[in-house]
Formats: sequence, structure tokens, C-alpha cells
Amino acid sequence: MKAHVFLMTLCMALACVHLQAQANSRAERMPHDALVLASPDGQLTMQFAVVDGVPHYSLNRSGKAVILPSRMGFELEWRDDLAHAYVLVDSSSSSCDETWQPVWGEESRIRNHYNELLVTLEQPVGSVESMDHSTENRPTVMQIRFRLYNDGLGFRYEFPDLLPSTRYAAKTYNALVCFWFKEELTEFALAGDHTAWWIPGDYDTQEYNYTESRLSQIAPLFEASHKNGGWPWTAFSNSGVQTALQMRTDDGLYLNIHEAATLDYPTMHLNLMQDSNSRVPNPPFVFRAWLCPDAAGYKGRMQAPCHTPWRTVMVCTSATEVLRSRLILNLNDPCVLDDVSWIHPVKYMGVWWEMISGKSSWCYTNDFPSVRLGETDYSHATPTGNHGANNANVRRYIDFAAKHGFDALLIEGWNIGWEDWYGKQKEFVFDFLTPYPDFDLPALNRYAHEKGIRLIMHHESSASTVNYERWMEKAYSLMNQYGYDAVKSGYVGTIIPYAEGHYSQPINNHYHYAITEAAKHHIMVNAHEAVRPTGLCRTWPNMIGNESAMGTEFRERINPGHTTILPFTRLQGGPMDYTPGIFEPDISKIVPWGKQMHTTICNQLGLYVTFYSPLQMAADFPEHYEPYLDAFQFIKDVAVDWDTSIYLMAEPGDYIVTARHPKLNSLNKAAEGVATLSDGKKDMLSGAARYVYALPAEATARDLATATPHDVWYVGGITDENAREVTVPLNFLQPGVTYDAVIYTDAKDASGMPGDAYNPQAYTITTKRVTAKTKLKLRMAPCGGFAISIRAR
Ligand code: NOJ
Ligand code: CA
Repeated sequence: MKAHVFLMTLCMALACVHLQAQANSRAERMPHDALVLASPDGQLTMQFAVVDGVPHYSLNRSGKAVILPSRMGFELEWRDDLAHAYVLVDSSSSSCDETWQPVWGEESRIRNHYNELLVTLEQPVGSVESMDHSTENRPTVMQIRFRLYNDGLGFRYEFPDLLPSTRYAAKTYNALVCFWFKEELTEFALAGDHTAWWIPGDYDTQEYNYTESRLSQIAPLFEASHKNGGWPWTAFSNSGVQTALQMRTDDGLYLNIHEAATLDYPTMHLNLMQDSNSRVPNPPFVFRAWLCPDAAGYKGRMQAPCHTPWRTVMVCTSATEVLRSRLILNLNDPCVLDDVSWIHPVKYMGVWWEMISGKSSWCYTNDFPSVRLGETDYSHATPTGNHGANNANVRRYIDFAAKHGFDALLIEGWNIGWEDWYGKQKEFVFDFLTPYPDFDLPALNRYAHEKGIRLIMHHESSASTVNYERWMEKAYSLMNQYGYDAVKSGYVGTIIPYAEGHYSQPINNHYHYAITEAAKHHIMVNAHEAVRPTGLCRTWPNMIGNESAMGTEFRERINPGHTTILPFTRLQGGPMDYTPGIFEPDISKIVPWGKQMHTTICNQLGLYVTFYSPLQMAADFPEHYEPYLDAFQFIKDVAVDWDTSIYLMAEPGDYIVTARHPKLNSLNKAAEGVATLSDGKKDMLSGAARYVYALPAEATARDLATATPHDVWYVGGITDENAREVTVPLNFLQPGVTYDAVIYTDAKDASGMPGDAYNPQAYTITTKRVTAKTKLKLRMAPCGGFAISIRAR
């Protein structure tokens, strides 16, 4: 080792010791001269100060601490940390009040109203060490941009390359050019032992049930919580949790820590700092950002000019306010696509639940011990007889979906390779191009289009992101050739390149690459097992869905109340393809090893309104809907894109009741898209358009031009294991107008709780005249719910 390198290494080691010593010495209170930023309504105040060279922020609501003074900064590779020796050299403030219109969403207009503070921090020349001597005569500059809304705070770190001319001589460059994070040191020091709904921190899966506990109970409950989910498991700490982390204080504030616009950066988890002896956290309860490392252990490779994602702290006075918050979307950039005419909401069915429930299989044959694509010859293989994606079965689903006014049909298991797709660490599992011998891709697409249905493509990557990228252009082109305009992608298993996790910077970049490439092909994307969303669908609205949480595929393993938590957590970043609509939740009736799911038919109906997604599935088999077509009518009638949403009552882990008003201009958009295909049916009418315009069964899309829309609302409710009676005031209806309501409720003896009283398919449907003065008394069974469609007469 050369002498100067050795000395430098020694200096760096000493600097680390210095930092370690400081690590637990965050400022106890903000200094009197701290900068103050207030929310537009003045209720929230954020303070910022550099204390002993370390940037700190705090957040108060109405004078009460929400976030106690918390440190900010980074540990870097090859140079001193961005966490000490700071001098505040500049600050500026501004504000914004604008309204924007999402391409699809929970409402047609969103207000973006905040006050902003931008601080410029400098580590002066000579105050820090770097291995890169070419930059030692330049100041090390980091800016922090804070945006304070009425419902929360967002802040991000920014690294300019050219330093601001207001302060620096012309052409002064930052000492930070290309730099690597070893750790992000952002802290969130919480003022109390709040109740939290959390899933364990994990680099590879978010498919967990939530644990509700005090912050102090995270470590004691960690092991149990970690067993309560999917695979693969890659935990990093016994007090690590994922975001969005929903909390409730004993004073009734609802706090939520998350992030927005995570691009070219690792995902942020949170680690509750603990006393190393007692394993119990010290008050204050301090979470530190914990980024998902790449295969080499780095947590962000940066090139100035650049910035981190936004770190967010939502502060609401009620649970319904959390559901109403648009903080995450607002912190994302506006839509970058010039033409969004090809993007549309989708209500779909799928050859899917058959495989998930165990009735049929993704594979075509049992002939091969393993498959080598390009060598394995399927043409003479013996079919198992159990392959779901066969021509006859797909036609059966197309017929049913078309008859009931759906937009699309997903088919999984259509392409060769499924015989050893899972857990084999194979890099080349699928080519995304070659159908099995019993799946006639051109003919099935033609058949579907002639009936007004689009097929949804399925690309299971088997977590081999490298292989998917190799085939992506060809795969998307094949979709264009046959008129597919949406893809469900998947990332099951251990990520390839090996040693990457699902949420590291390079793999987050892969998910984003798939979205941007798909946009070039006018393809909408619904990714499963990809990183949980952070509002990027505002910028790229072709990202119409994501799974990224425990969804219906987990069947009986899903805890009661799970779906009353997800809208507070996972859905804050964007819609979820939860795949509701299970009408036969006793899976033992499908396969002998099946078990009973915690749900009722009415609970399933309630999900179409309480869960927002522009992509909604009716996941069960046609033959499971046939006996219950009167209840199925609600799934046919419900819209999936809204101009107004009202969160009537909610409590995470307990219940949610939501009312929504459909957006007219997207009601029949999917059908219009099919009509543009040469083989597409021209006069299709979606179920929701039919309901809103009160058109009879024989009506076609042509009738829309002359029909008048009725004022329509849909209301949905869901509960956990507790039966509940709720009173729903319909005061959102227009005064003086009479409406017809169709009310789908759990029958008196219904129960979605597995066991002797299990009776998930018992419901009653009543029709009733209602007005804005009506208050509906409704009962939800254990694990039950309700749904209501309301149309002005
Ligand atoms: C897991 C996905 O979440 C599920 O929806 C899909 O059917 C399987 N992977 C196979 O791709
Ligand atoms: Ca999944």
C-alpha cells in the first residue's frame, strides 16, 4: 500500500470513529436560530438547523413534537461522511398551490399545495478528507429540499454539480461528482411508543401479513412476524420494518413514514435503533433509514447532479385523512408521456386462480426433468392434461368475460418453460415468445378481439431480470403484433444477477426500465413482486398496477383485517392488483388440501370500492360465479376510475367504508381500444357504462352518444374478524334527488371466519329508494363487508 493511501485510510478510519461517537448524540432540542417552515394552514412546523456540524430537522403539529430533532446525512465510500463539519451557507423558501389531473385515479383533480425550504450545506475545503485528490480544492455541497403540506412533510437530498452562482464564483464545481453511499443516516425520532402496523424489513419480499404492535414490541415480535409471509426471506435486523409504516399516537394522530419517487436509488426500509444490551429500543423511538444494498453492499451510486427520493412523514388527525392524502403522488413529477390516449382502466378476468388454487397447472408436460429453451422439444411431449392455458379453456373464459362486459382476460402459463421455472436459479427460464403447443396465440387473440376482449400478456421473469431485459424488445413487439396492450410481469424467486435483492438500486432500475420501454410500445404494466410503488404512476401512468404486498394468492394465510391495513400502507404509493372477487373461498372444495379463506362474498365485493385500482380483477372461475350471478352483478356494474372518492369511516386493522363517483370519460375506454383493432368488435359496452347510462342488455356503444348519464355512486365496506354494524349517511348524494340503491350485505348467519360457523356465501340483496337524507344501517359479518350501487332515477 502506498504511504499516502495508508495515511488516508487511517484518517478515514479515525473519521469513522469520530462519527460513531456522534452517532447517538443527536441534538436534544433545536437551537433558537433554527430555520422554520410552516404548512399552508400553519398547523405543521418543520425546523432545520446544523447542530455541531450535523444537519438536523424536527416536525411539530400544533406545537407538539411529531419528529424530535433527527440527524440527516450519509456515510460515503472513499471520502469523509456527509454527516459532520457542515456549515449552512444558504436558504431560500417558496410555495406552490396548483391543481393537476391524473390520467386515472381516485379523483379527477388533485391539489398540490405546499411551502418549500431549500437549504444549501457546505463542508468547506479542508474540513473533510477524500481519496480523490482531484476534488480536494472544491467545497462539498449538499442541498436539502423540504416541502411541507397540511398533511405532511417531504424532503430529499440534492447534489448539484455546478454550484449555485448566487453564492459561488462562476464554474465552481461540487467536490461530489461520482460517489457511493455506504449508509443513509436519515433519522425519524418519534416522540412516543406509538401503535404501528408493520411488516418486517426484507430485501426480497413484501408479501407479509401485518403485525400490529407498539414500537417497543417490534423486536420481540420480529421472529413471529417474519414467519408470516412469502419467500425468499432476507431480513437485515430484528427491528427492521418496511415502509409505508402506519402509526397511531396515543393522542390520536396518524403518522405514516414512506418515500416518494424512488428512482435510480435503493428502497428505504427503517431500522429501529436499539440498546444493544436490552434489545429494547430507547426512547425516543428512533428509526434510521436502511437502504437495500446492491450485490457489492453499496446503497446508492450517485452521479451529480442528482437527488435522492423524497422521505415522507404524513401527519393526519384521522384515519380517513390518511386515505385522502395525496402526499406521495404530489411529490412525484408530472406525467412525462405526451400521448396517454392508449392508457385506460381495465376490469379483467384470468386463467389464473386455477393455478393458484391448485386446480390446474402452468406446466404443459411432466416429460422433462429440466428444460433448456431452444433445445427441449415440446412438440412431441405428453401433455399432463392439467394445463390451464389450453385453447378450449381460454375460449371458455373469453366467452364468459365477453358475456359479462369485461375488458380483458389474463392468461398465465401460455409460454414454454414453466416445467422448471421456480427455485432452480436458472438464468434462462423463459423467452416470453414461444407458446405451448396447445395455446394458439394468433387465433385466441382474434377470437377475443371479435368478442370485444383484450388478452393480457403474462411475463413471469422468474426474477431473472437480465434474461427479461434480453428478450424485452422482442416480447413487447410480439404483444404489439397481436394487439395485447397490457402485461402482467412477475419476479418470483431469487434475483438474477445473483446476490442482488429485489429492491436494490440496479433492480429498481430494471423495473423502471420495463415501464419506460413498455411506454414506447404503448403497453400498460402490472408488475408482481416488484418494488412497492412510490407514486411513480403519476409520471408514468402506464404503470397501472403492482402487487408488491400479500394479495389474494395467499388465500387462507391472509389474516382477517389485512385488507383494512393495505390502503394505509401499500396503496399510498399506487394501486395494487389485489385480485379480489373470490366467490368460493373454501378452497377445500377445489383441492383436498385447500383451506377456508377469511372472507365472505360481500367482503370481496366491498374490496372493489375500498381498494383503489384502475386495474381490477374478478379472480374466480366462471363456474364459481354462475350460481351467484345476482351478487356478481355488482362486479359487472362497478367502475374502476373515479372523479370523486369519499372515505366515510376507517381504522387500520378494523374496517373501511368508502364511497366513489365514477369518471365518465374513461367508462368505456377499454372497449374503444378493442374497436380500433382490425379484428376488434366495434360496439362493445362495458358493464359500468351500461350501469351509469342505465342501458338495457341489448344496447351497444353507439347508444352512449344519445344516452344521458345518471348520477351514480358506489359504496363499499370491509371489516376484520369482528362483525360490525355501521350507519352510512348518504349525504354525498345530490339534495332533492331520488336514487335507486342496490345493497349487497352479508346475511344474518354469514361468517367469513373459518370454523364451524363458516358461511361465506350467505348474502342478501335489497333494493331501496334513497336520498341524501337516508342513513343506511348495515351489518358486516366476521371477515365480511358490503357493497352498494346507487343510481339516480
Ligand atoms: C406470483 C404472482 O404474484 C402470481 O400472481 C403469479 O400467478 C405467479 N407468480 C406466477 O407468475
Ligand atoms: Ca406474488
